[in-house]
Amino acid sequence: MGHPRVDAIAEEARQAVSAARTSAELEQIRVRFLGRQGLLTQLLRALGTLAPEERPLVGAAANETKRELEALLATRLLATQDAERRVRRATERLDLTLPGRRPPWGALHPLTRVHDEIVSIFAGLGFSVAEGPEIETEYHNFEALNIPRDHPARDMQDTFYLSESTLLRTHTSPVQVRTMLAQKPPVRIIVPGRVFRRDIADMSHSPMFHQVEGLAVDRSITMSDLKATLELFAREMFGRQSRIRFRPSFFPFTEPSAEVDVLCFVCQGSGCRLCKQGGWLEILGSGMVHPRVLKNVGYDPEEVTGWAFGMGIERIAMLRYGIDDLRLFFDNDLRFLRQFA
Ligand code: FA5
Ligand code: MG
Repeated sequence: MGHPRVDAIAEEARQAVSAARTSAELEQIRVRFLGRQGLLTQLLRALGTLAPEERPLVGAAANETKRELEALLATRLLATQDAERRVRRATERLDLTLPGRRPPWGALHPLTRVHDEIVSIFAGLGFSVAEGPEIETEYHNFEALNIPRDHPARDMQDTFYLSESTLLRTHTSPVQVRTMLAQKPPVRIIVPGRVFRRDIADMSHSPMFHQVEGLAVDRSITMSDLKATLELFAREMFGRQSRIRFRPSFFPFTEPSAEVDVLCFVCQGSGCRLCKQGGWLEILGSGMVHPRVLKNVGYDPEEVTGWAFGMGIERIAMLRYGIDDLRLFFDNDLRFLRQFA
């Protein structure tokens, strides 16, 4: 046909096209022969360097080969793209009947659940939530609560001291003081939070545990309001048939004072290891706010009265879920925690 140099390139191109299997390979061939630096392109660009009589021959042959190759590539490209689409459709199909991958389902910790429940019961009674620092001053944790230095009442709560005048709070009661110093009566707050004591860990004690403080101060608030409120709380938390008792007690910051016990769920009152043979589990301390505490925060005890309580969240969660060892709450054993999902 045309010219030996062009024929060699044409033959090489035809072979390459027939060996190509994919559209990507066809594209490489197009670049190699027809691209800007392609063999045919270069040949056409160099026509001027040929002998004058050769130019029309080589030029015509190269152009013809170029058209032939373009047509060939176009045809093959259609076929391979079609095949490739078919393969993709078969292998990448979405199977909507396959079950999805389930992410592991988390759950709230039992202490978080009981915390939320306590907060919502008291929110329903018109209490709002207040918070305070875990590192406290000796003044807020003890002094203002009528527990002077060197008073034997300090031994009731064995304390982690950070310095002469700062400590890890031993109860949530300092937030009573902070709140009353910051606002005028009436006050109706609950205070959930972490507290710390140098207590030996056992079935019902931990050196770090949680309390919820309650405080109501207003004109003519009485001890019977306190009793009714705590009875209502116990019914909501433990059910109608639950049994609680008020036991006279002592706190330097309340007068009179009472502790509340719930019948031990393990032995139903006959005495066991959990209740230390007593038949009852103590869940909270409470009482009428001591006039001296009201004076310390600038309230007039002749004008307002109040009551307060401090309950242990772990103890309540134990009774609520029938858990006979408080340490389980802190072990992070998934087999235990999954039961609350
Ligand atoms: C107090 O901490 C007082 N601040 C409560 C109070 C507040 C009285 C307001 C009057 C007015 P007590 O030390 O008894 O009191 O602790 C209160 C509750 O915390 C206990 O009834 C118990 O439920 C829980 N508790 C005490 N020590 C531990 C402990 N080591 N581990 C788990 N729970 C505890
Ligand atoms: Mg107590």
